[in-house]
Amino acid sequence: MQQKIIQFLKQTDGYVSGEEMSQQLSMSRAAIWKHMQDLRSQGYEIMAVPHLGYQLVSNPDVLSSHEIKSGLKTKIFGQNVVSFDSLPSTMDEAFRLGMQGAPEGTVICAESQTKGRGRLGRSWTSPKGKGIYCSIILRPKLSPSQMSQLTLMTAVAVSEAVKKTTDLQATIKWPNDLMLGTKKLAGILTELRAEIDALTFVVIGFGINVNSTASQLLDTAISLKMETQKSVNRVELLQQILISMEKWYGKILKGHFDEVLEYCRQNSATLKKQVSITDAKGTLEGKAIDIDADGGLLIRLNNGKTVKKISGDALILK
Ligand code: BTN
Repeated sequence: MQQKIIQFLKQTDGYVSGEEMSQQLSMSRAAIWKHMQDLRSQGYEIMAVPHLGYQLVSNPDVLSSHEIKSGLKTKIFGQNVVSFDSLPSTMDEAFRLGMQGAPEGTVICAESQTKGRGRLGRSWTSPKGKGIYCSIILRPKLSPSQMSQLTLMTAVAVSEAVKKTTDLQATIKWPNDLMLGTKKLAGILTELRAEIDALTFVVIGFGINVNSTASQLLDTAISLKMETQKSVNRVELLQQILISMEKWYGKILKGHFDEVLEYCRQNSATLKKQVSITDAKGTLEGKAIDIDADGGLLIRLNNGKTVKKISGDALILK
């Protein structure tokens, strides 16, 4: 019911009387007044003026299902949103819901995580209300070897959305990080459930440092607020990410991964740099020269040979 009230206030220009709301929403005026009190305690700023009625002044920056879906014009991404105050990890919840048949594009987000995880067994710092901690269930008809396309597409979508929302250009550090200068702004984690040759579903998780302070993050990390000196609206940013992901995902499904690659090449933190890449086979050093059609990184070794890495941990040397 509170969602209906908020929706009603959002659609109304100026004030709306308690009488009109009570008629339109088939609720007593006393019940409306009570809901207004509750909504205010959730952070909605609602003016009440005698003889004029109510007006919504501002929304809280809370990643609730209602706020994320409000006004979001996507067909798949974010049409189903499940939000939590706190979770161990949105990845685990996404797998649980994915196994139960949650539809493609389901978004799982939490205001904080107690066991947020990153790649290679690392943890992801998730201070309450300061970042975006989100996982999305996808059911693409792609082979497991095309997974890195999804990671890169997410990096492109986040970078594009950050640019639209803050005008900052985050660069993409292969294979899964977004950087502002030399510091990490966001990380992407792509995990899958697969049968022998086909994907059952994929979970793409991303963590973005939005309004965190330096003391809440590692020395190697940065938030949007640290860079802009202003708080950034997380709902607006997440909605922009979902719009952008839907666009780039559509391109991949139509076989146009080359367009994702082009964005990565134009906004890369890795290409043309001397890098050291560590994976299960060990560490190698060379110059990152390109990202190929599968999303793999091509490295020219010091002996002139070119090798391809499909995953690994990249360190930029110079
Ligand atoms: C990395 O940089 O290694 C990837 C970090 C991914 C963090 C996000 S936060 C939301 C989702 N839930 C998790 O536990 N991890 C991902």
